[in-house]
Amino acid sequence: MSHDDFPTDRPAVVTCGLPYANGDLHIGHLRTYVGGDVYSRALERLGQETAFVSGSDMHGTPVAVNAEQEGVSPEAFALDWHERYAETFPKFNVDFDNYGHTHDETNTEITQQLVRDLDEAGHLYEKEIMVAYDPVDDQYLPDRYVEGTCPYCGAHARGDECDEGCQRHLEPGEVEDPESTITGNPAEYRERTHKFFAVSEFADYLSDFLDRLEGTSNARNQPREWIEQGLQDWCITRDMDWGIDLPGENPQDLVLYVWVDAPIEYISSTKQYSERVGAGAFDWEAAWKEGVSDDHPEGGEIVHVIGRDIIQHHTIFWPAMLEATDHAEPRAVMASGFVTLGGKGFSTSRDRAVWADEYLDEGFHPDPLRYYLATNGGFQQDVDFSWEKFAERVNTELVGTVGNFLYRSLLFAHRNYEDGPDADAPSDEVAARIDEAVDEFAAAVNDYSVRALGDAVTDLARYGNEYIQRNEPWKLVDEEPAEAERVIYDCVALAKAIAVLFEPLAPEKSERLWAQLGESGTVHEATVEAAREGPTGDLSEPTELFEQVEDERVEDLNEKLEARVAESEDGDGDESDDDGSEADESAADENDDDTDDTDMTDIEPLSDDRISFDDFQELDIRVGRIEAAEGIEGADDLVKLTVDLGAETRTIVAGLKQLHDVSDLPDTKVIVLANMEKAELFGVESNGMVLAAGEEADLLTTYEDAGPGTKVK
Ligand code: MSP
Ligand code: ZN
Repeated sequence: MSHDDFPTDRPAVVTCGLPYANGDLHIGHLRTYVGGDVYSRALERLGQETAFVSGSDMHGTPVAVNAEQEGVSPEAFALDWHERYAETFPKFNVDFDNYGHTHDETNTEITQQLVRDLDEAGHLYEKEIMVAYDPVDDQYLPDRYVEGTCPYCGAHARGDECDEGCQRHLEPGEVEDPESTITGNPAEYRERTHKFFAVSEFADYLSDFLDRLEGTSNARNQPREWIEQGLQDWCITRDMDWGIDLPGENPQDLVLYVWVDAPIEYISSTKQYSERVGAGAFDWEAAWKEGVSDDHPEGGEIVHVIGRDIIQHHTIFWPAMLEATDHAEPRAVMASGFVTLGGKGFSTSRDRAVWADEYLDEGFHPDPLRYYLATNGGFQQDVDFSWEKFAERVNTELVGTVGNFLYRSLLFAHRNYEDGPDADAPSDEVAARIDEAVDEFAAAVNDYSVRALGDAVTDLARYGNEYIQRNEPWKLVDEEPAEAERVIYDCVALAKAIAVLFEPLAPEKSERLWAQLGESGTVHEATVEAAREGPTGDLSEPTELFEQVEDERVEDLNEKLEARVAESEDGDGDESDDDGSEADESAADENDDDTDDTDMTDIEPLSDDRISFDDFQELDIRVGRIEAAEGIEGADDLVKLTVDLGAETRTIVAGLKQLHDVSDLPDTKVIVLANMEKAELFGVESNGMVLAAGEEADLLTTYEDAGPGTKVK
């Protein structure tokens, strides 16, 4: 079964991984929330009925351990953080239709009912297991209360998750050499009876489900491997006071494992939204349950937006729970890469992070960060945050391309035409270009690519700049006023299209642009159809939409961040972290250990910034044969090469003159990045890039006889 393209006539629910209510939010977390918000707004712009929900994750040891360390009750502790999150998200224009929490009545009720349903359907059983216990403190030590060694990879691990090594979920009793996190006491294992969910029975279902699952490819590929290795049943209870009680007979006073009630909050939060707006406006049951709606008995379009550390929970445990209880099946899981600093994971405990509040306190507007987080690299790729890169994207794309086009055309329009330029409709050329942008926007939604949503807009603005430059309305205004008015009307039409298509990424800025254009209502209520309609309002005096980030500012921010990172590295080597983001760190650390027998001093550490296979496929790498080579006058290093690439012969400029005998180059086979941006060097246009290794420009070639044009893959 393949899914119909968005928009469909089923209600969609976009969810974001719930933040643990246990500490400040950083911009790594924001990648999930911005990603979800952008995606749900984009669905709405396409006309899809959408609910966007999340909530705070109140239970479990991530919260209980931190509360205990602060000496407060977990409930008070979690509620405090919950309230802060509820205030923070809107400041980033992350606009949930409902933001609840897992400890509220709705979630408690729905969770207990769902667990009863699992039990009645025969999917739960009891089993005696060994759980960690602190004999000195007389306390059981579930999950993060215990630390030790991962039985699979040998890394230091928390009780329930190999967070610094292989990322596996660990069952109780699995971690070796256990110690209490709180007291440091060596733990012993004791026998207890716990409830298990028979996930292994769902292996075949899950394999088929993964074939249907849309979203990012990491959310399909990783779980396929886990299924192949054999699924284990899942312990769903814990020896703790804090959590939702196991329903039914419960002689040992167990609570449900946090990962049972956390995803159920997606349903509960949707229910709360329906209760607020009325089932006529959004029917949570029709979206989440099978067989409720006659029109779409399979339920709604469920899209989960998460970080890559919690793929297993969303593609194995959660869909099995949904399937076992006749709920809708998720349509897509979008799992983002991590945001890192200097190639290493954020660390909340060591203050190695860029904090959400800090960004705002620096006086930045939220929309540029949204744009940066959503479009820097593919969604699956890890993004290494740096203020330079942030500034570069803001300055070149938001200020230089989008802002520049809007300001120059709207200023011209406002100065020359009191109520805005008049025409019946955009010209055929511009109407076609807007259609193309709308198509790109829709394709981006259907590809689950928030980055491509950004490209659709920046490309349209780039076209706008080119269009106004080519038509030079400022020259026409006196001689051919009608033609000038037509050109500038086209530009305002492009500006309106940009307002609509940019709303998901830059909601507040787009709203301001909409107001400048004098359009009625809000752009948040508009759909892509409005982008095609042409302007209808009276222009007001435009102001610059985006602000340049100055170099001194970047230097200043960099200094502060570097000092903080350096301090975090002086720590006591305690790698424990509470947001799971330390995963990248262990790998990166290995590169710091110089080995004695190899001189590694000149070798850069291998990048931890992974790219997806899709990203790799965007590189068009070909075998080429150099036909001719000659030096370029005035350039010390450069040679102009004529390279046969099979389908065509290209001129490519390469820095090889001092390193190679130019007369030796003809007839050499080389490897060429064929879709490298064109560049002009010393008056010669270079159309591709020849690949070479190291400072000596050791030319890459082929091992056997692949001929010109052969693709490297
Ligand atoms: N409470 C669980 C999720 C339960 S969902 C039913 C959790 N909480 S978290 O606070 O650790 O993370 C919240 C979200 O932020 C998750 O989607 C997580 O993947 C994401 N990220 C946390 N740190 C991150 C980075 N450094 N980079 C990118 N995303 C990160 O997991
Ligand atoms: Zn491991």
